[in-house]
Amino acid sequence: MDKLLIEGGTPLAGEIAISGAKNAALPILCASLLSSEPLHLTNVPRLKDISTMLRLLEQMGVAVEDLGADGLVLNSRGLNNPLAPYDMVKTMRASILVLGPLLARHGEARVSLPGGCAIGARPVEQHIKGLQAMGAEVFVEHGYIQARARGKGGLTGARIVTDMVTVTGTENLMMAAVLAKGETIIENAAREPEVVDLANCLVSMGAQIAGAGTARIRIQGVERLHGARHAIMADRIETGTYLCAAAATGGNIRLTNTAAANLDAVIDKLFDSGCELLIERTAITLQAPPRLKAVSIRTSPYPAFPTDMQAQFMAVNCVAEGSAVIRETIFENRFMHAVELIRLGADIKIDASNAMVTGVDHLDGATVMATDLRASASLVIAGLVAQGETVIERIYHLDRGYERIEEKLGQLGARVKRIR
Ligand code: EPZ
Repeated sequence: MDKLLIEGGTPLAGEIAISGAKNAALPILCASLLSSEPLHLTNVPRLKDISTMLRLLEQMGVAVEDLGADGLVLNSRGLNNPLAPYDMVKTMRASILVLGPLLARHGEARVSLPGGCAIGARPVEQHIKGLQAMGAEVFVEHGYIQARARGKGGLTGARIVTDMVTVTGTENLMMAAVLAKGETIIENAAREPEVVDLANCLVSMGAQIAGAGTARIRIQGVERLHGARHAIMADRIETGTYLCAAAATGGNIRLTNTAAANLDAVIDKLFDSGCELLIERTAITLQAPPRLKAVSIRTSPYPAFPTDMQAQFMAVNCVAEGSAVIRETIFENRFMHAVELIRLGADIKIDASNAMVTGVDHLDGATVMATDLRASASLVIAGLVAQGETVIERIYHLDRGYERIEEKLGQLGARVKRIR
């Protein structure tokens, strides 16, 4: 398994471009199942999770054409196998996002139930409850979700109130509703920018959606969707990760092809820690202060502070002045990175969903292990700060969500090498 070797101590400097967003691209790739016409997607990040999703769609009969820099064209005219097998779903939970579109377009679906994950149990009962409200027959058998739209006319619009804000739950139900008879209202919907990007893509395919980005989304079902061209939004979590890396190393960087508007909560906290930020329409420049101030955070659904930035900000607080409390409210087991950061000399005390971080003068390089995608990003940040060498094992987690990370860090002056 590949490892990452980092020689720490270099303040990051320079400019890099941000990639397309993994968490927007994954549901949008599944939207291709909703029409028999071609969907041309640009700014698709080249990531392990994207390749997994493409393989999943291809085995269903979706044609995928890779146009290199000009993106991907997907066409599900040949859709003939509405199945998401366990072997694929177990490697990527987001595979659940085929359920809604398959049911809406094909009238049936067989999708392996995603198992647990390092950061939490992550059940999907809200997805199922919503589809049942739209008239689907859904049951779990032999580890598979079996779903069938009752009756010839397919799904029927409904008012759905989810028990908690769920991002992929909202996305799955929105995709199911665009071809359902009548109107669907999703209450307590997720407001994440990735949900809005999916809605924009669906509208460009002919869907009728109002209120994406708010807690109430209205979808008027239509007969069919047509082909379209859509550019995937910039990755706000990748953006936030590089900003945290620059802050922690005392650096000065400019990120292009990004959008600060989707990162308010993170940018506010970086300001509070003493960073100077210059915000342009599609670029962000960060200048770190001589010493950061510790900043407390509490994760919550958008537009509050994203749970996918919690680990990276913990690494920032490890070398800041003073103490801070990090409260994780979304996932029940998302502090796995803390024990690894402690191996690098950090001072962190965990109490259930709270972590008390007290800044130290310096971190010392060591060998650490990545446990999930964002945990691995926090170890990269800590390794860039630490004195001496840090070796990060199991970086397959990192490759799931960060495109060409060692190349981009190298462009910013970091000494990072992949050990195959
Ligand atoms: C999405 O996961 C993201 N993944 C996650 O990013 C992100 O952490 C999460 O949203 C929260 O922002 C993708 O978009 C592919 P949820 P999702 O349903 O949709 C509970 C990353 O690092 N819940 O919003 O799976 C659930 O257990 C990944 O890129 C139920 O109980 O998250 C969690 O505690 C990690 N029942 C909470 O709701 C359900 O039916 C929010 O989960 C659904 C969710």
